This record gives sequence, C-alpha cells and structure tokens, in this order.
Amino acid sequence: MRNISELVSQMTLAEKAGMLSGADFWRLKGVERLGIPRVTVTDGPHGLRKQDESADHLAINASVPAVCFPAACATACSFDRRLLEGMGGLLGEECQAENVSVILGPGANIKRGPLCGRNFEYFSEDPYLSGEMAAAHIRGVQSRNVGASLKHFALNNQEHRRMSVSVHADERAIREIYLSSFETAVRKGKPWTVMCSYNKVDGVYMSENPLYLDTILKKEWGFDGYTVTDWGACCDHAAGVAAGMDLQMPSAGAANDDALVQAARDGRVSMERIDEAVTRILTVIYKYLDNHNPNAQYDKTAHHLEARRVASESAVLLKNERGILPLSADQKVAFIGQYASDPRYQGSGSSRINASRVTSALEAVKAVAEVQYARGFDDASPDDEAALAAEAVALAAQCDAAVLFIGLPGSYESEGFDRRHMRLPDNQVALIREVAKVNPRVVVVLHNGSPIEMPWIDDVQGLLEMYLGGQAVGGAAVDLLYGIVNPSGKLAETFPLKLSDNPSYLNFPGDGDDVYYRESVYVGYRYYDKKEAAVLFPFGFGLGYTSFSYGGMRVDNAAPSVQDTVTVSVDITNTGKLAGKEIVQLYTRGKHDGISRPLRELKGFEKVSLEPGETKAVSFTLSSRDFAYYEPPLHDWYTENGLYAVDIGASSRDIRLSADITISGARPLIRPLTTDSTLRDLMSVPGSEPIMKPLLDGLRRGFGIGDDGGAMGEGAERMFINMMGDMPIHTVGSFGGGSPIDVEGLVAAVAGLCR
Ligand code: BGC
Repeated sequence: MRNISELVSQMTLAEKAGMLSGADFWRLKGVERLGIPRVTVTDGPHGLRKQDESADHLAINASVPAVCFPAACATACSFDRRLLEGMGGLLGEECQAENVSVILGPGANIKRGPLCGRNFEYFSEDPYLSGEMAAAHIRGVQSRNVGASLKHFALNNQEHRRMSVSVHADERAIREIYLSSFETAVRKGKPWTVMCSYNKVDGVYMSENPLYLDTILKKEWGFDGYTVTDWGACCDHAAGVAAGMDLQMPSAGAANDDALVQAARDGRVSMERIDEAVTRILTVIYKYLDNHNPNAQYDKTAHHLEARRVASESAVLLKNERGILPLSADQKVAFIGQYASDPRYQGSGSSRINASRVTSALEAVKAVAEVQYARGFDDASPDDEAALAAEAVALAAQCDAAVLFIGLPGSYESEGFDRRHMRLPDNQVALIREVAKVNPRVVVVLHNGSPIEMPWIDDVQGLLEMYLGGQAVGGAAVDLLYGIVNPSGKLAETFPLKLSDNPSYLNFPGDGDDVYYRESVYVGYRYYDKKEAAVLFPFGFGLGYTSFSYGGMRVDNAAPSVQDTVTVSVDITNTGKLAGKEIVQLYTRGKHDGISRPLRELKGFEKVSLEPGETKAVSFTLSSRDFAYYEPPLHDWYTENGLYAVDIGASSRDIRLSADITISGARPLIRPLTTDSTLRDLMSVPGSEPIMKPLLDGLRRGFGIGDDGGAMGEGAERMFINMMGDMPIHTVGSFGGGSPIDVEGLVAAVAGLCR
C-alpha cells in the first residue's frame, strides 16, 4: 500500500497549493522532486474525447478517434444496469489504452423539462432510474482502474446562463428529485471524483458551496474521492477550497497558486483542509497509476459491435400498428431521409467524440435486405427541399412500406444553449405528411436527444425512438426494424403532448439570473400522473414484438415496521411467440392522508429476458426509505405510518398488479416547536394532553361548548378543532375567554416532552 500521508508530509505549502489546480487544460500537476507525475483527465461521458494538441471544452478542436457509444438519453431506456456496467468497462479500457486517469462523466442531472440543451447527456426525469444508471456506468468504468467523474453536481438543469444562473428550489424538491439521483450514484457507484456545476444555488456558486460539497457530499454520503470544478467554474479559489472544493480545472496560472498559499498563511483556508484536498487528489492519482497497464490496447471493432448492441437494447418502439414491424427481407421497402445515410448519433459540446467509424442504416441493411433510398431532406441544403421531397414521395408510392429516418438537426440541441420549442423542422413534418398520403405504411425512425411534439403521429403506423444512439446506431436500427433484435427499451422520460403541458413550462429558464423550480417535486410523470393529464407517451412505456403477462404478486410482510425490509415478488411470463425482454417497474404510493406527494414513485426495476412461454420470478427488496419523503423541518427523510400501495407496472400508466402494506413504528414527527406553532402542532405531541387541557378548556368555554356541545350542537368539538387548530399559539390567547396564558411556558413544557 502506498503511503499517501507520508508523501503529503514531504510536500511544501507551495507544492500542495499547486496540486489543487490543473497543470494545463487536461492534466493535473505533478511534483517532479517527489516523483509525482502529471496525469490526464478527459471527457466523457459516452466516449473518449482525448485531445493531444489544441484543447478546449466544446470539442471545437480535434480529439483522437474513439468509439462513440449511445448517449445517456438512449442508454437510460435500457433500464439495464449490467448493460451500462459493460459499456462503462469498455470506456475504462479505452482510457487505459490512451493513458487517461479519469473520464468526465456520467451526468446525473435530472431532466427538469424537455428543453435543456444537454438533456441528451442525462438519463432521466426520475431520480431513481438516473441514479441507478449513473452508478452502473461508474462501476463499469472504475472496474478497469480508471476513475469516473460524476457531474454536474448539482441543480444544473438548463444551459441558458448556466455559468451565472442561481437556482431556487424548495428543500423537498432538492432532496427528493435533484440530489437523490446523485446520492444513489455516489452511494452505489462510489465515483473517484465528482464535478461541481457552474450555477449557483440560492446565490452561492456550487464551486464554493460548503453545504453541498462538504456537508452533504462528503460527510452525509461518504464521498471519499476528489471534487473538481467544471472547467472554469472556479471564481474564488481560496473560498472554494475552504468550502470543500479539491481541484480547480483547468490551469489558472502561478498567481492563482500563490494566492492560495497566501490565503493559507492568512488563515482563510486551513492547512488541514489543504492537506485533505491534496490527500484526496493523490489517492485517486495513485489508484490509477498503481494499476495502470502501460501496454493496454483495445479492440475498436469489438467496441463498435458492442456500441451497436447497446443501441439496440436501448431503443424504444413507441408505435406498431397493424404489425407493420418487423419488416421482412422480401418486402419492397423505401428508406427515406438524410439520417438513413448520415445518422445523427451524438450531441454537440464537450461530449462530442471523433468517432472511429459510423455505421448508417443504409450500409447495415445491405446484409439483410435490398432497399431503395431517397434522401428526402438535407439539413445542409434547404434549397433542394422540394426536389428531395418529391423524389422521396415518388419512391414511397411504389413500395410496400416507407421508413423515414428523421429527427432533430444537430443545431437544434447542444451543450451551451437550450431549445426554444419541441418541434421537428417543418420540412421533415411536411415530408412525413406527403409520404403518408401516397403510402399509409409509414415507419418513423427518430434521431433526437430529447422529446419532440408529434402532431403527425396519426399519419404513421410505426415509430422507433433511437435517440442519439452512438456510432453504430444505423446497425441497431436495422436489427430492430427487421426483427433481428426484439425491441426492449422503455422511455426514461415522459413525452408530453405539447411543451406547455410540462410542469416547468412557466418557469424555464427563469428571468435574468434566477430560476425558480416552482413545480417542486412534481417533475415529469410525478406531475402528469397526479394531474391525470393526457400525455403522448408515458414514462416507462415501450413496445416489443412479443407480449408479457404479470401475475402471482407476493409480499413477504404486509405490515412492516419502519426498520423492516419488504420483499415483493411477481411472475412474468412471455405470452408471445418470440423471445424478448420485459422491463418490470415497481412504484410506491401513499394511500393515507398525509403530506402532498406524487401519485407514485419509481423505486425498483428489473429487465428480464424470457423465451416464448417461459415464466420467471422477479423480486424487489424495499426499505422504509422507499416510502419516505424529505421532511424539511427535520432536514431528514421521514416515513409516515399508514397505508401504502406497491404497484407493479409495465409503465407508470400501466399498472398490472398492486398490493397494500401498512407501515408502523415511525418515530413521531415532531417539528421544532415555537410560539408560531399551531394549537394542533402542540396537541399532536404525545403526552401533551394534560399540559394543554387548561388552555383547551378555556377556549371551549369561550366558544360556548359544554359537554353536550353547547350552543353549537353536535359536531361542535370537531368544528372547534377545525377552526382553532391552525391558529398559532401566540394568537390563541386572544380567544381564550379572557384569561391570560403563558405562551412561552406552555411551548417550553410541550417541547420538553419531545426531548
Ligand atoms: C462541461 C463539462 C466538461 C468540461 C470539460 C464543461 O464545459 O460542462 O461537462 O466535462 O467542460 O470539457
């Protein structure tokens, strides 16, 4: 075991301060005197962007060729932890071969709304799914002794003014939605590094935020790697280090290091903090170096084939009427659209990969069937629009089926800016409609990083969502269209009917440098389901070429106490004629009166592979946290006693089985008591009855209530409590029939019971 503390003890203050910022754009500093070399970090997340020469953070300059795997918008739809771990492992292999110590990703930010330009790099609108996928990706990368850098921590849910915007959200939304995704990724993935986001939260930059960097991430979640700024996210280096930021990237020059030395001498940053940061950084550096394989190589062809498999496991079949899919080789099929020959397979910005090779559908289909092709539209030549469309319509008219490869042009969605609308370009919509007029057998294959509106949905019989499926996306599309692979992905986000249906619509992207997350915890399906709002495609939805039945739900303990775990099992049967995979989803739901909560929340999923006629049992283990909400006054998770349902479904809107459980044994929920607390707050404290009795008796008399209900008759007591219960205790005295009450004394006495 290398002795890191011994190494740290040999370093001068200047050397230590130097270690806390980069040597250049992609490398950390070393200390030659002590034999500490410079190591390289590189983007991520779904491929390696290693720049040898000119470095930048928006992929303007070239990088070495690498395999571009499907982006997170796609891979999340696999709901397959093993698949993500496998893909992460291949990324780790590429890092070893390119001598990269840390790959920057995955991104675990929540898709608050559909417009965020970077949604394609993120997994889901649901924190459980997002956290599980991120954790699997991290485990995979790190299985090859290379670090992952979980990003962008946190509350970075838009690109608009991403470097200055201040996010304002309530504590429940922050914990239940936005942090929860990172919490799972940290606890289950154990990333070597975490990258902070550019934005502020309530006016404090994340790079200088002790609550997030230190209290929550390091202390509460036990993160033991190094924190790193997003590139250029550092404002005041000393303030950042003091707050828990370990590494500033990229380099910021000698004066920056000198200023940190001075801050240490002035006592603005403690020596312990600097030592801790250096220790964290060196630990990660040597985890990599001590396990680095200098002869590592990787097989680009094998990785390309795996990228194709990942894409086909992730795509979502959204519509399949009259069995239009799968196609068969003897049909006369037209492939139409620019993206059949030049697929849109990745997004723009720092994640842009110099793909080692790209397989289009047009190339891949040659091994399967003979198709005819018309370009139909071209992002780059709008002048040829009419001619291209006319040629495509003429071709479609003579074919058995027309497959349209369409989607969002690269200029529509990218790191650095947000979308303004959810529409496809007009020329593509016109093309769908014109083709559908001459041939009703239309299949659309979509290439996009985030949902679109589909006013044309009734014009097509088939719809295959490929998202941004990586460099082998064309091969995967052909595999799915021709039934070589049975589609098995399900949506990791809701497709609303229209943009204005989305809960963030009125407050995205905010005004000036402030954005308010007023929809609170009602993000994605949590909002649509509670509102009973119609959607285009619900969260968790996806079709395949076979069918499944759900049955035999079993719960091992229907009356657990909060300390217990509960095991839920169901049997899934493939009732169709083809082998296939089903994504079984588990949601929990409160059925008692309590705090305002989403209708149901995802707390488990499994992807199960079944031969025709085969049945397999799927089990989930739940703990009280799976039923909890975040209680702001307690600053903690809290599970109410009461009745809950466990719903097992094929999507959030297709619940197949449900079982009730009753939870008991929760510690009483006692919010801190003050003179602003209500009468009801005080009355709900166990044992408070005798203390409260004199006051309540006085109030009852003031209301003219006797044992018989007095003038107010039957139900008087209930009415009395309903009317008075929500009054702050400091006002209650005025209604107390004249006798003065010692408000402070009363509150202190009841509060005494809570200790
Ligand atoms: C992006 C990060 C990226 C970094 C380095 C930043 O602009 O937000 O995701 O890892 O640049 O390229």
